[in-house]
Amino acid sequence: MKSMLLVSLVAAGLAVAGAANAAGEADLAQKSGCMTCHAADTKKIGPSFKDIAAKYKGKAGADAALVTALDTGKGHSKSKASSDDNKALVKWILSM
Ligand code: HEC
Repeated sequence: MKSMLLVSLVAAGLAVAGAANAAGEADLAQKSGCMTCHAADTKKIGPSFKDIAAKYKGKAGADAALVTALDTGKGHSKSKASSDDNKALVKWILSM
């Protein structure tokens, strides 16, 4: 009984942490100007984040290549965000 309670508390905690994280990245994408050209579900100037995630699903090394493109401005317009933030953004986009 006691362990059941513990399990549900941990699960609830993780759910809250997950939601807080996603909100943080959505905010970061907004602040970094990504949402001028992108949206989660719909194509704007750039493809939707869901389409990008589908395109790279299961491709090893895709995340690193995308971060490099955003960091350097080769293959994509250069991101205003720091390299660490670009990493977080790519991880978030590819998880959609
Ligand atoms: C000026 C408009 C513009 C802005 C701002 C922009 N993007 Fe893009 N993005 C595009 C276009 C257009 C494409 C599709 C063409 C391409 O692959 O470069 C794209 C493609 C992408 C891709 C897929 C690249 C690929 O090789 O398939 C990712 C990931 C991405 N954008 C992330 C971001 C992130 C993160 C930001 C914010 C830091 C951002 N974009 C800001 C226009 C933009």
